[in-house]
Amino acid sequence: EKGGHDYFMLKEIEEQPEALANTLRGHFVDGRIVLDEQRLADQDLRDVDKVFVVACGTAFHSGLVAKYAIEHWTRLPVECELASEFRYRDPVLDRDTLVVAISQSGETADTLEAVRHAREQKARVLAICNTNGAQIPRESDAVLYTHAGPEIGVAATKTFLAQIAANYLVGLALAQARGTKYPDEVAREFHELEAMPDAVRHTLGVVPQVRELARELADSKAILFLGRHVGFPVALEGALKLKELAYMHAEGFAAGELKHGPIALIEQGLPVVIAMPSPKGRAVLHAKLLSNINEIQARGARTIVIAEEGDDTVKPFADHLIEVPAVPTLLQPLVSSVPLQVLAAEIARSRGYDVDKPRNLAKSVTVE
Ligand code: M6R
Repeated sequence: EKGGHDYFMLKEIEEQPEALANTLRGHFVDGRIVLDEQRLADQDLRDVDKVFVVACGTAFHSGLVAKYAIEHWTRLPVECELASEFRYRDPVLDRDTLVVAISQSGETADTLEAVRHAREQKARVLAICNTNGAQIPRESDAVLYTHAGPEIGVAATKTFLAQIAANYLVGLALAQARGTKYPDEVAREFHELEAMPDAVRHTLGVVPQVRELARELADSKAILFLGRHVGFPVALEGALKLKELAYMHAEGFAAGELKHGPIALIEQGLPVVIAMPSPKGRAVLHAKLLSNINEIQARGARTIVIAEEGDDTVKPFADHLIEVPAVPTLLQPLVSSVPLQVLAAEIARSRGYDVDKPRNLAKSVTVE
């Protein structure tokens, strides 16, 4: 049942290419993006003047990634917020607000309450969910299902990648309805997404290398994660995985924040994982991150760098280099998250913990 793997999570990590392909299938028909249970008219999408993304945990990190893409494609302001915070402040919502509620289980109490609150304020709610007929999609105006299949491991993996893909479909559907992207641009973005299952399959080649690294890092006191732009949520997700599975202190930071405090944590031998942007994307992002790595390496950190294949400029700064395939910048989280998932699972395993059932956690959190 674990497909020859020691634990479900590794099987689920390996199922990510299919999870992505299945989530994208059927959503580009006759040159147009189509969502599934679309109970919102095209006019509703055209009228949207603000987007809130609400979710918890890993689903929240998928929303943070989506913010970059949706703002870029639609020119709409997008706020991504933890459902538990959104619900208890007084967010400004009206019928032209689109609230995207992301939940693998579709039963998370905090996210469900956020949905109810949004609907009371007359906002339109679109759910992104992996579980057919769950409560959150039932109470939403529209649903887009991720087709990642059942996820047994408590740590979300394939549903995270599928959520990013689904969020991107929502972004493209909005761009299409609002005319902020020409049809051929929407088509090009969709085809780039369609190429991602292969890129993720290729990325899975890093598993043996990361497994060996995990054995070396298993006794670390803490591990830090750094990223910029879409690499920032990747860093947060890498840290969350490590906390929940390996019970190790882990923090994800926006690399630009280093000098505002976290750099004080750097000491001799501290492992720091860095998600590098593509050197072919925004050159300024790449240059800034290189200088951040330089700074922490000079202070003794052990740098573990996830970089695009062939990016020779990072080599002098990487004590350990993990190469992932070259993909467009907005799609990088789909490849750079994979080694972080494996790292957390394998450190947990080296420490003798149950990877699929970490202590104190439940797969679906139905209390607030
Ligand atoms: O079912 P949901 O997507 O609403 O769950 C949200 C979080 O509880 C979930 O992502 C949690 O953070 C995972 N254990 C992370 O791996």
